Amino acid sequence: MSAGYPCAPGPIGLFDSGYGGLTILNQVRQLMPQYDYLYLGDNARTPYGTRSFEVVYEFTLQAVEKLFEMGCHLVILACNTASAKALRSIQQNDIPRLDATRRVLGIIRPTAECIGAITHTRHVGVLATPGTIRSGSYPAEIHKLFPDIMVQGEACPLWVPLVENYEFDSPGADYFVQKHIGNLLRKDPDIDTIILGCTHYPLLLNKILKYTPRKIKLVPQGDYVAYSLRAYLERHERIEAMCTKQGTCRFLTTEAPDKFNDSAAMFLRKKVIAERVALD
Ligand code: DGL
Repeated sequence: MSAGYPCAPGPIGLFDSGYGGLTILNQVRQLMPQYDYLYLGDNARTPYGTRSFEVVYEFTLQAVEKLFEMGCHLVILACNTASAKALRSIQQNDIPRLDATRRVLGIIRPTAECIGAITHTRHVGVLATPGTIRSGSYPAEIHKLFPDIMVQGEACPLWVPLVENYEFDSPGADYFVQKHIGNLLRKDPDIDTIILGCTHYPLLLNKILKYTPRKIKLVPQGDYVAYSLRAYLERHERIEAMCTKQGTCRFLTTEAPDKFNDSAAMFLRKKVIAERVALD
């Protein structure tokens, strides 16, 4: 043990800047209800997608340390922006220093892995936050696996704020959703597959479907991340043994718990009682 983290097995941690990671949690819990989960949303500081590399890295590291302190041996960054901007540094520089036995995984790689079997035209679009698009992580990960696939990205800076402010079903959301889907398809009219490369976007799915031509396949990440996590746990018995299995789920937020409870209950269609935590 190092850094004084609890040695006993603990829940699987999931982290997002806000509510978006709940779309991943949902699918992961559906596939693997036996595990305990600890969800942390940094709602007080969302969105991350328009922040600098340094700030996203700093905030994400704080969240990972908090989840380690609370007993997690495995943490999933259920946020593309954090996966794009902080994962590699945390894996390479911080884990060895904090506790080399713990693991942090992202969600871009598992999404990239599924794409080769979905696209026929080999032209893929990515809708994501400005931070994820600017990082170039999606084209880089997809090209490592499928060098023949053309990847076009479109940054959607207002989509996360629309979700975080419960405007995902409002008429005002239509303008921004239509605009960015239109921009993406103008960049490459041969796109037949669009990755929803932000965990908040499934919460805008009704609007996204409204403005996406039917022949295009939309790829939300939840299922792919869930199956990939299950395969990871099957391959890594030591880590799997450190994940407790009582089927529970706890929620932490950096914002007022009442606000989180109401919104999370709406997204998950279940009662949620969150606890407030401070990250620093
Ligand atoms: N859910 C995060 C993602 O997948 C949103 C980031 C943000 O806070 O802008 O990128």
